[in-house]
Amino acid sequence: MPAARASYDAPVEVLRVTGGHPLQGEVTLTGAKNSVLKLMAAALLAPGTTTITNVPEILDVEIMAELLRRLGCDVTHDLAASAVRITVPENPDHRADYDLVRRMRASICVLGPLVARVGAADVALPGGDNIGSRGLDMHVAGLRRMGADVSSEHGYLLAQVPDRLTGAHTWLDFPSVGATETILMAAVLARGETVIDNAAREPEIVDICTMLQAMGARIDGVGTSTLLIEGVDQLHPVEHATVPDRIVAGTWGVAAVMTGGDVAVRGANAEHLTIALEKLETAGAVVDLLADGFRVRMEGRPRAVDIVTLPYPGFPTDLQPQFIALNSIAEGAALVTENLFEARFRFVQELARLGADVRTDGHHALVRGRGSLSGAPVEATDIRAGAGLVLAGLVADGCTTVYGVSHIDRGYSGFVPSLRGLGAEISREEVSDR
Ligand code: UD1
Repeated sequence: MPAARASYDAPVEVLRVTGGHPLQGEVTLTGAKNSVLKLMAAALLAPGTTTITNVPEILDVEIMAELLRRLGCDVTHDLAASAVRITVPENPDHRADYDLVRRMRASICVLGPLVARVGAADVALPGGDNIGSRGLDMHVAGLRRMGADVSSEHGYLLAQVPDRLTGAHTWLDFPSVGATETILMAAVLARGETVIDNAAREPEIVDICTMLQAMGARIDGVGTSTLLIEGVDQLHPVEHATVPDRIVAGTWGVAAVMTGGDVAVRGANAEHLTIALEKLETAGAVVDLLADGFRVRMEGRPRAVDIVTLPYPGFPTDLQPQFIALNSIAEGAALVTENLFEARFRFVQELARLGADVRTDGHHALVRGRGSLSGAPVEATDIRAGAGLVLAGLVADGCTTVYGVSHIDRGYSGFVPSLRGLGAEISREEVSDR
């Protein structure tokens, strides 16, 4: 057999966007990526069949399903019903391999449930992390305070509990979403009381708390920065509907403003987007609250809006690239401050290929609005950067080709058909990568 040859011109998928069409009509949201993955992991806490509904059709859900299967669960995804059913055995396995973790950093969310339920977890370290790194230090510190022995070896984070986790007073240096979830999912089955001080308060945290409470967990302070958890001996499976995706909702709002359109976002919870919707109003949009969502209307060129990303209820970092795209065509200049992930500004270099005027310095970006952008090939470097580039393509002159489509697939369910339904000129194509 001839040896496989590396090919520099293998076909890749791209999105081709032709700008200049105002988006008009309505879209219906599905559940939040950043919640559903954790809800699926939480199913591990109870033997039997847990059903999660309002599940988005995104790649990360398939990766999490595969991870749970490798742990011994039976997982079916009923696309027609937007539901995932997870049957968890009495004794799940406890190893999460690198081939899946490298594809999805959020795989780390099985750590807490496995330690609580099985007393051990071997989870491959996501790229770039080691045990003392910023990325996981608070997860590890929390589990250690609860009596877990945590080490790292051969690229794996190894956690073991001699007997059963013991409730403890824990605190976070920063209200990390992931660390709050890890400690919370460990604490619900620990012996005694756990306190998480400076906990994250994101709607996705409230969502998982609600599901855990339905499973029999005892949690107080839900939605505040102090969570009090009284551990119980066992939990039972439930059916739970995923909270709507506030980041996808916000992305549609920005798209309406940038294109001078009129979009109703159904199935959204506008309360989860208070600051972002106010920013759209500051940019000049009319935002109406609907019984099941909101509507954003815009005429003319938007005004520039300053953004400072912060943990919830602050402005979400996951909407920062979309607002940089908005500011790139706005009247005036905006200062965007990113307090969570500095690497988020990497996408600015791609936006510059479309003619955007953005200067970054550390965690600040100065965006000077231009009257127009001009279509060009660009590469999505992560999910939200991908969304930001597509939005820019919707208003750029001519055709924008967005590479790195798999990033967008990780977070946006049916993005292209929804955009077409609103009147955008966009298609998904396979091209030779030369
Ligand atoms: C989650 C979301 C992500 C969102 C982020 C902030 C998922 C799958 N992802 O990510 O889309 O942008 O919340 O809203 O839900 N940190 C530490 N030590 C730790 C943990 C985190 O230093 O132990 C740092 C991180 O490096 C980062 C910051 O804290 O700079 C925020 O992280 P965190 O809130 O944990 O975000 P994620 O849960 O990773």
